[in-house]
Amino acid sequence: MKGPEVVLFVSVIFELWMGLSSARKASDKESTTHKTPLRPKEERKYVIKEKGSEVDDGDSLLLRPNYLASEPENVPAGMTNVKHPGGSLTAAGGDGTLDDTSAIQAIVNHAASSINNKVFFPRGEYLISSDIAIPGPVELHGTQSGIAVITSSTPYALKIHNASPVKSVLFNNVYFDGIRVKFDGEVHGPSATSNITIKSCIFFSSGSPTLRNAKRQQLKMVDLGSSNVYRSIFLRDSNAYGVASKFTRTVGVDVRENIFGLDLSKGGWLATKVEPVWYWRDRKEKLEFLMTHYNLEADQGFFKSCYYEECDERMRLAKNIFNGSPNIGRHRDHVMYLKGFNMMEVVGNYIRGWPADLSGGIKARNGKNLLVARNYVDDTGILLYTHRKIKPCLHNGLKNVVIYGNHLVQRTNPGHRASGISYYEPHNQGRDRNITYSANVFEIFGVSDPSNYTCIWLTNGDLSQHHVLQDNSYYGAKMPVKLHARYSTPLHETKENNVGITNRYNYPLYKLNIPPY
Ligand SMILES: *[C@@H]1O[C@H](CO)[C@@H](O)[C@H](O)[C@H]1NC(C)=O
Ligand SMILES: *[C@@H]1O[C@H](CO)[C@@H](O)[C@H](O)[C@H]1NC(C)=O
Ligand SMILES: *[C@@H]1O[C@H](CO)[C@@H](O)[C@H](O)[C@H]1NC(C)=O
Repeated sequence: MKGPEVVLFVSVIFELWMGLSSARKASDKESTTHKTPLRPKEERKYVIKEKGSEVDDGDSLLLRPNYLASEPENVPAGMTNVKHPGGSLTAAGGDGTLDDTSAIQAIVNHAASSINNKVFFPRGEYLISSDIAIPGPVELHGTQSGIAVITSSTPYALKIHNASPVKSVLFNNVYFDGIRVKFDGEVHGPSATSNITIKSCIFFSSGSPTLRNAKRQQLKMVDLGSSNVYRSIFLRDSNAYGVASKFTRTVGVDVRENIFGLDLSKGGWLATKVEPVWYWRDRKEKLEFLMTHYNLEADQGFFKSCYYEECDERMRLAKNIFNGSPNIGRHRDHVMYLKGFNMMEVVGNYIRGWPADLSGGIKARNGKNLLVARNYVDDTGILLYTHRKIKPCLHNGLKNVVIYGNHLVQRTNPGHRASGISYYEPHNQGRDRNITYSANVFEIFGVSDPSNYTCIWLTNGDLSQHHVLQDNSYYGAKMPVKLHARYSTPLHETKENNVGITNRYNYPLYKLNIPPY
């Protein structure tokens, strides 16, 4: 037998076996005839290539595993399988055409009020037609062996969210196709909704959202207590240009080891052993499968911004990869835009593909106790601003800010303030306090005399509050970088940096070998 036939044969046996076992538990599985196909296959934008079907792609494609097709799977102990939930619960079909909304909602409701609150999604596509509400502590686990996708026929119109305060929710290894995830503890304050974990999830869209829906963030967290977003991947293509994530008034959110933007045709680097990349070694094939299966554009870095933050406290943004597509030709609003923070750490991130002008860069304004350390910032800048305090939660200026040990590469716009580190205060109110620039390294390409180019720009504000240490340097040279300041003479300070800063923030710096778009 040839490969596909073997697969087909095994799957027929499996379906027979499933048929028998479900016949035995006939009451488990309500008839699915009441389900009307929500999205007939032929109406899909991208045709699903069925296992063993006559497709013209040649053997090589057919021999690739179909990570979505049903196969016998080990359901981890103690988890409720959505395709065989047992009891009086209706099974989800996971076939991408029937509406699984009510089945999934009932299973989630049941799990959230049970001791066993873990729900397992085997391989398949779970189509939903309205929002799924998370009513209590529940864990949604997607299959490890294949791919479990929750999908919407109207991309980014629907969300999985908490309708009331919840604690201890985990989404693990779930693929969200045109689905938003939103946790909002608004009514009950930060403590009522907390311990939300988004782990190893993939956000993408196989269809084209309307302009209105494309404007919505893939992930939104508002008024939460301590929560985690990690090892997840955010993808947006040219049809879905927009913002990946938005955080507002959270306390204690940790966002680490995520990827924002990928060129799906150049995923080789995902297999490298460099931290923080190695987590995705096993994702490379699955992402390539997604691209061919759904006919996705390779360029999945269409972000207006990856990260909007407003008035969050004790937030940590560490070891993420921000890999924007530089070929967007649309308005950018900073790789991350931070405002009103208190106790914010931006450390060990790798950033590329953002413009070296005032629409790119890590932008931070009107907040206090900020550490931006050990980031590799390739051809975009670090932009500090003080604007007027227009919202109660914004700080009146910047206070206790440390920009330490970052590596900034200047290529397209050397010496421009948006290519280096800059500070700007348009109102001359001088409210900022205690801002330190130390141990940053600047690398300038394509110029004969890099010492002729300004690396740190200070415009307006009270210069006595800006401490530029002499240890900021050009790559490979010990001399301090060139400064620019308006209305006054900028000085390098020779004083030692606070030992606490240099020791405590001894983070590695990641220069990743990501091929350009
Ligand atoms: C947080 O949620 C996880 C499930 O994601 C749970 O295992 C853990 O016990 C929760 N922690 C606390 C402190 O409630
Ligand atoms: C300046 O800010 C740093 C970092 O936040 C802090 O450690 C230090 O105590 C501050 N210094 C003063 C004088 O407030
Ligand atoms: C350095 O900058 C000055 C003024 O900005 C300019 O006149 C000069 O040509 C530059 N030198 C080099 C080597 O680029």
